[in-house]
Amino acid sequence: MDSIPNIVILTGAGVSAESGIDTFRDGGGLWEQHRVEDVATPEAFARDPDLVLRFYDMRRAAIQTKAPNAAHDALARLDAVWPGELLIVTQNVDDLHERAGAKRLIHMHGEHLSAWCTACDARSRWTGPLGDRPACPSCGAPGTLRPDIVWFGEMPYRMDAIYHALNRADLFVSIGTSGAVYPAAGFVREARAAGARTIELNMEPSQGSHWFDEARHGPATALVPTWVEEILAASTRSA
Ligand code: OAD
Repeated sequence: MDSIPNIVILTGAGVSAESGIDTFRDGGGLWEQHRVEDVATPEAFARDPDLVLRFYDMRRAAIQTKAPNAAHDALARLDAVWPGELLIVTQNVDDLHERAGAKRLIHMHGEHLSAWCTACDARSRWTGPLGDRPACPSCGAPGTLRPDIVWFGEMPYRMDAIYHALNRADLFVSIGTSGAVYPAAGFVREARAAGARTIELNMEPSQGSHWFDEARHGPATALVPTWVEEILAASTRSA
């Protein structure tokens, strides 16, 4: 290992829970309120685009009323000062990591604040509704924009860059994710195979908890700032 460890951080819905954004699989979570097959697959969009667009319009409006919490802030601080390689891979489609200031960030499941034109393939920043079928700002085609969200059955984004980072990681940290959805749920094994130390920070043991060298359980706003302080203090000592 180099003296400065390379870090990969995977985040999920649990990191935004204390900002007031529903998780997917906790009690009362999104997938208890809606069937995945109705709102989060290409087939659902083909069958009932109005329903799917309304669902994402509501979610897009809601995230804009929320603010980053202490976990997002701590990760942004780590990103800003960490002298080694660092990548935050988020499964979240909110923008709270970047609003906290994170820069080395990949949204592997897409972003609420982006619209994707199925005619010209352009992606445009989007804060308003899509349900009224606006024209694409790039090509002008009417009614061709869809949420820039990776639906079930679609390929997550930037997988080459993510696996490249996992294969160079000395430390892999998973925060606020249930470990129920692949490929993200397999990242811990990829990082372990590359020799990384692995840590889980989650409210409860995830489905893959046994793959981690260390697991700490509790709310992200408490666990993440503590872990960030620890790693910064350790790197200062060893410098
Ligand atoms: P889940 O809802 O599956 O899991 C959230 C995890 O966060 C659970 O293990 C909770 O125990 C934990 N959690 C809840 N509150 C927390 C808190 N305050 N602090 C720390 N942990 C907390 O969400 P994800 O694992 O992110 O995909 O779900 C993965 C993917 O499944 C999502 O990206 C989404 C979904 O279907 C797509 O939409 C493609």
